[in-house]
Amino acid sequence: MEWGMANRLAQLIQSDGHCLFLPVDHGYFQGPTRKLEEPRKTLEPLLPYADAVFITRGVLRSSVEPDKAKPIILRVSGGASMVGKDLANEGITTSMEEAIRLNVAAVGISIFVGTEYEKESLLNLSKLVDDGERYGIPVMAVTAVGKELEKREARYLALASRIAAELGARVVKTYWCENFDKVTKGCPVPVVMAGGPKVDTQRQVFDFVYDGMQKGAVGVNLGRNIWQDEHPVAMIKALRAIIHKKATPEEAEEIYNSEKSKKK
Ligand code: 5RP
Repeated sequence: MEWGMANRLAQLIQSDGHCLFLPVDHGYFQGPTRKLEEPRKTLEPLLPYADAVFITRGVLRSSVEPDKAKPIILRVSGGASMVGKDLANEGITTSMEEAIRLNVAAVGISIFVGTEYEKESLLNLSKLVDDGERYGIPVMAVTAVGKELEKREARYLALASRIAAELGARVVKTYWCENFDKVTKGCPVPVVMAGGPKVDTQRQVFDFVYDGMQKGAVGVNLGRNIWQDEHPVAMIKALRAIIHKKATPEEAEEIYNSEKSKKK
């Protein structure tokens, strides 16, 4: 592998082979999502515990200090919104030149397998991979489900993840699901798990992240279940322990409980 590509991937996936990416890109189609209304306020306390941040160029420039940043995965797809006709109708929003100017570690793009815009999104991914490989910039493909949350099951996610890898994604971000090993076994590049909308308890998050790690995920790209939690720093610390210290869900829960009672 070329040095630049290897160096960027090493910034993302740590020496233990695992990673915790913190996504704060949701505003690109959701607007000022709950608890991400002011991205700087959300991000600042969490940054020390993230291995990388998934973010758009607008929020990066406006809300992250260049001398205090973590490796950046730049969200470069968009063009649709929650109130528009179809979330799957995305294009590439940001050039590779801009990604290089921002000194990013990777770029990220959504694909919408099984939708009307399947072909466009897959060709967008292919084009981005062509450009990224030219400059040593890895592409993270996001297997997006839009509003169809029921698509989060092994057969669909394995299909979408494998297609992303076949088209050249260096990392695939998908959802955790039952029988998650079907997804990781069929995907020849590292797989990270998203969290999806906030679930009811912290324990549910610890359980699925732990299960996914046992079944071959290298880590997470997990947003709302961290920063929409009442105690986001406690949450990210507990998840970090599962990902980088092999903590069990029980141990993660103990960390969460002890961290949440500490004074801010
Ligand atoms: C939304 C994304 C997010 O990066 C991804 O869904 C992970 O965040 P969450 O854990 O909140 O689902 O692609 O644009």
